Amino acid sequence: MNLKPLLGIIAATTLGSALMAEQPSTVAMRAFGQTKAGEPVMLYTLTNAKGLSADITNYGGIMVRLLVPDREGKLGDILLGYNTVDEYIAKTPYFGALIGRVGNRIAHGKFTLDGQTYTLALNDHPGDIPCNLHGGNLGFDKVLWQAEPVIKDNAPGLKLHRVSPDGEEGFPGNLDVTVTYWLTNANELKIEYRATTDKATPVNLTQHNYYNLRGDGNGDILGHILTINGSQTTPVNAGLIPTGELAPVAGTPFDFLTPTPMGKNINADNQQIKYGPGFDHNWVLDRKTAKELELAATVYEPTTGRVMEVWTQEPALQFYAGNFLDGTLVGKNGKPYQYRTGFCLETQHSPDSINQPTFPSTVLRPGEVYSTVTVYRFSAK
Ligand code: BGC
Repeated sequence: MNLKPLLGIIAATTLGSALMAEQPSTVAMRAFGQTKAGEPVMLYTLTNAKGLSADITNYGGIMVRLLVPDREGKLGDILLGYNTVDEYIAKTPYFGALIGRVGNRIAHGKFTLDGQTYTLALNDHPGDIPCNLHGGNLGFDKVLWQAEPVIKDNAPGLKLHRVSPDGEEGFPGNLDVTVTYWLTNANELKIEYRATTDKATPVNLTQHNYYNLRGDGNGDILGHILTINGSQTTPVNAGLIPTGELAPVAGTPFDFLTPTPMGKNINADNQQIKYGPGFDHNWVLDRKTAKELELAATVYEPTTGRVMEVWTQEPALQFYAGNFLDGTLVGKNGKPYQYRTGFCLETQHSPDSINQPTFPSTVLRPGEVYSTVTVYRFSAK
């Protein structure tokens, strides 16, 4: 019997089903309301060749939804957030937003750079101690970005661009910023940040997704198993500002060097935990290289099997366990966001770096390019 034609048919069939599994990536766009000034806000839906999808708005660069499979292959939205832009404008603890010009806290809202002192908004008061948080009153999370849908290597992306004017929120220099979100076909959310300036300025960009790998609205995050590749944290004072020391995690509630449930030591009798209250701290990552993408953290959620790996070029990671969620904000699914029902893993330079000479510098100068990449990789087991 001549097998050749038969083999030809099998090959074609296999190729056909492979093509069906790899659908073309798409970026769709629809209206998402308007700002208070009446500017139209859009919502972009990125879908990769594997069916993973993300909804992102050009208001604050906010990621509204992220659908990833569980161990049965069932897609579920793993982000906290709202259904309308009005709710994001009214009140949000930075759900899903792009954070800048300087993510995390600046002590007393003040810094001195090249002999000049700059004064910023005091928009946060942990322990009744005022500081600047996440860029001030009108940070990058509360402005409209120019958005351009992009597709590269059959992966959908959204390129967000904005020039933050000289003096905006008290920061020096016109800062030209581009942040591109990608959904790669390796089931990764890849975030590329780029910025240039015409005056020296601190820059520390990050992204503030609140994750719940059980699915948005499906209870607390305490059973998520977390590993952080960081053997030191930057201990804080009552105002959540680093003291400048580095503290080894060994033998403390901050030891996530091996997989540990987020809830295991979250209420430990420990001064740093009391300041949080709970985990709201910055880990210095154990990096092998200066600027390669390295694994910073892994989260495994046992009931759904979802796994999220965080890879970054940044030196530090803020783990925030949703300690300020108190049931007053009602989310996408109509349920109130209760205490610790979402967590953030924000890649960045450590808080208050601009006032901490021993921390890696956050200063960007004219002629330099700020460039950094973070990847959240999803799988299930
Ligand atoms: C900070 C928290 C803060 C939260 C705002 C996080 O990045 O670490 O202290 O309360 O952002 O929602």
